[in-house]
Amino acid sequence: MATDINKDKFPDETKLKLEIFAECFREWFPVFIHSPYIKVLYIYDFFAGSGRDAAGTFGSPLILLNEAKGKDCKYCSQVRKGNKQVYFAFNEKGRAKQELLIENVNDFMTDCLTNNCKENQCIYNYANFKQSEFKDVFQNANFQSVLNNTSYGKFILLDQYGFSQVDEDIFLKLINAPKTDFIFFISSSFIRRFKEHSATKQYFDTAKIHFYESRPKECHRLIAKYYRNLIPNGKEYYLHHFTIQKGANYWGLIFGTSHSLGMEKFLKVCWEKDKFSGESNCNINHDYEKDTLFYNEKATVKKQEMELEIRNKILSGGITDNIEGLRYVLKNGCLPELFTSAVKKLESEHKIIRTGNLNYSSTNIHKVKLYKINVK
Ligand SMILES: C[S@@+](CC[C@H](N)C(=O)[O-])C[C@H]1O[C@@H](n2cnc3c(N)ncnc32)[C@H](O)[C@@H]1O
Repeated sequence: MATDINKDKFPDETKLKLEIFAECFREWFPVFIHSPYIKVLYIYDFFAGSGRDAAGTFGSPLILLNEAKGKDCKYCSQVRKGNKQVYFAFNEKGRAKQELLIENVNDFMTDCLTNNCKENQCIYNYANFKQSEFKDVFQNANFQSVLNNTSYGKFILLDQYGFSQVDEDIFLKLINAPKTDFIFFISSSFIRRFKEHSATKQYFDTAKIHFYESRPKECHRLIAKYYRNLIPNGKEYYLHHFTIQKGANYWGLIFGTSHSLGMEKFLKVCWEKDKFSGESNCNINHDYEKDTLFYNEKATVKKQEMELEIRNKILSGGITDNIEGLRYVLKNGCLPELFTSAVKKLESEHKIIRTGNLNYSSTNIHKVKLYKINVK
């Protein structure tokens, strides 16, 4: 059985995971509360734990509630003004942990109301607690109807132990759910280590994961690729991953969204954390480290490889317009500005000409005007 994560102080790697959860939600929440198309938001934390570690550090449920305030409670005011409904739901299977969670959430809220908005009641509907097996609540008809509701915005956090909970069926339901972004944790090196074990094969077709062709530190990349391959052909979907090394183990996060803006925001978080490759805490591509002679943040292995790939694709006619190019870069875990800088370079070398609505926009790519790229 996994040791209880909330019993001790969170190690640095857990803190990094929680920081990524926090920053990911910090990016997500304002987009959804400001959307004129969304009146109702649901935020689910399905493996909520007890709310804090042994030192009182916030776990994921309190992190989400804390982020939802925004600076000077600006999000609470905006939700109130916009007449939106925001629901938080927390599930934790362990009875004792769930009881502690309820206590921690209630204490947090009492404190928050007293010290912040001073209202009698919080604008958020936060007191939704379950003490169930994840798969039971997930398959439950009530949850499925929220998940598949096309006018509700949903943020789903799945901080499982190990790797068995987000299987193919759950993953497909998540990626097919409208207006739903999710992030989950997975112990990728356990899958690598126990790839031949029947308990692992029950959840993953490990024959499709070519661990032997890669280094241990790349195992989470391969797991992310496995999930990516489950996305039906032709479906516009974005998935990105982040590897967290802890000693000899490699854990990972996987984030999914059907909207390019969701991926732009998540990649921003990842590239802030990892200037080399936007995907790990362990210098996954062996770039020159900071304070060494050849360190160059602007030309890391990942950036150089992606730039070369974009050039080749453009010059061979594989990418013929900016929308296609920006999406390609995003799907490959890089920020869209990398595409724009490659285009500028090709133009300055007189290798291409652009026609149509000329621009160099690299953010909010769903709103960017289309231009064509012609090879000279
Ligand atoms: C990694 S911890 C989550 C920690 C929490 N996110 C935090 O930040 O403190 C996983 C939690 O899920 C609970 N759990 C394990 N298996 C579960 C299941 N099948 N369904 C629901 N909860 C489960 C465990 O008791 C544990 O508290």
